[in-house]
Amino acid sequence: MEMNQKIINARVTFRNSPIHILEKFTIKNVENAYEEFKKNSELDECVIIQTCNRIELFGKTKTDNLEKIKKTWAKITGLDEEIFQENMEFVENQEALHHLLKLTSGLDSMVLGEEQILGQIKNSIASARESKASGQHLNTLFDKAIRIGTRIRNSSGIGKGGISVGSMAVKLAEENIDELKTKEILLIGTGEVSTLVAKSLQRRGYSFNLTSRTLGRSETFCETMGGNPVKFEEVLSGFNKYDLIFVATTAPYFLVTQQRIADAMKNKNNGMMILDLSNPRTVDEKVANIIGVKLMNLDQIAEMVEKNVNSRLTKVKTIENIIREEVSVLEASMKRLDAEPLVTDVFKNIENIREKEFNKALQMLDEKDEKKIKIIEELTKAVVESIVSTPMNNIRKASEQGQADLIELAGKLFDYKKQNQAD
Ligand SMILES: NC(=O)c1ccc[n+]([C@@H]2O[C@H](COP(=O)([O-])OP(=O)(O)OC[C@H]3O[C@@H](n4cnc5c(N)ncnc54)[C@H](OP(=O)(O)O)[C@@H]3O)[C@@H](O)[C@H]2O)c1
Repeated sequence: MEMNQKIINARVTFRNSPIHILEKFTIKNVENAYEEFKKNSELDECVIIQTCNRIELFGKTKTDNLEKIKKTWAKITGLDEEIFQENMEFVENQEALHHLLKLTSGLDSMVLGEEQILGQIKNSIASARESKASGQHLNTLFDKAIRIGTRIRNSSGIGKGGISVGSMAVKLAEENIDELKTKEILLIGTGEVSTLVAKSLQRRGYSFNLTSRTLGRSETFCETMGGNPVKFEEVLSGFNKYDLIFVATTAPYFLVTQQRIADAMKNKNNGMMILDLSNPRTVDEKVANIIGVKLMNLDQIAEMVEKNVNSRLTKVKTIENIIREEVSVLEASMKRLDAEPLVTDVFKNIENIREKEFNKALQMLDEKDEKKIKIIEELTKAVVESIVSTPMNNIRKASEQGQADLIELAGKLFDYKKQNQAD
């Protein structure tokens, strides 16, 4: 019987783990991870969400499998299992649904209400769906959570004001550098985060150079976002020109190395600030040891956001109340799903019987009148429908209320066999 289904959430996020720890939990090959989690952690369905601030696993399971999840995650990343103790959070059912709603509504984001997370979650469920890692339960859950999250964002206006990782980074630079307007600014990367940084620089009237591996892409970027495109190679050998550098790429190695910055600082008589917005980081943390260099990354942005949060606290309270209500509704629809295989099976069996008996009767009557045939058919349908619909609705209700014994009994009464399960 499909009872005692659990929705689980295992996560490592910026709340518990600084960036240099967080990045270690990154899952590089998601497709492979899906297979591993299903095979070795007893997850029937799973969805992985990875952003710069979090690596999260949602799953559907019938067993207690926290240890098995840790084991698989450790195997995939090559980490020791002990490190999960301090960094991983694990919740189930109601709490897992609650957390997903916090994610979709932007309440768990470092920058409260930022837009990016919603797109990232949509992409995650789309690709999980595509590779059949997720199924009926998680697909339904995510679709609903995305819809609820969008509604909460729109009605509360939590994302208003254009606060983003980009504007936070620029603000951090302003707080640390005097007369920023007179300084040379460089932005590395043409992706989503660079766009946010560029927008904020533009709005505040700072001019900047921009670079990425392909000059063409930088040129296109600058046409719409402002900034002057410069060649990548030129930048890599000439960091000394710059006083402030934002790095936001997905390069899988240190793009800004200690050697390059050490060389740059030899030919420079003022300081340099570097903001690494990437996860995994793309600036070697050793550059922070070079005299005159100040390195900041997502950790410092998180600290800064913490300070800004108070002003939005009333909104947060309102949203938390909405989420609490929505969780119960969501939970009921998830539990309802548990009874669907049984309900579908019963309807299918009864429909088979009805059709068989109807055809038998038609043959015996040798009836040709279409109108009469129709009436007889409608009669069989009406009888079946009125007998079955009440018990079926009661089964769904029992499932919503988690009455496992009643569902078990219904399964026996209707001779429901586990191998018939639809999912
Ligand atoms: N999205 C968010 O909400 C968010 C927030 C904070 C931090 N972050 C972090 O910021 C970083 C960038 O995220 P994003 O969303 O902007 O990514 P994105 O839209 O995918 O853009 C990636 C950028 O990285 C560049 N890049 C990739 N591999 C490179 C390499 N080997 N060498 C040089 N450049 C390379 C790409 O350049 P090409 O065009 O040449 O490929 C592109 O400009 C990530 O580490 C992410 O974790 C993201």
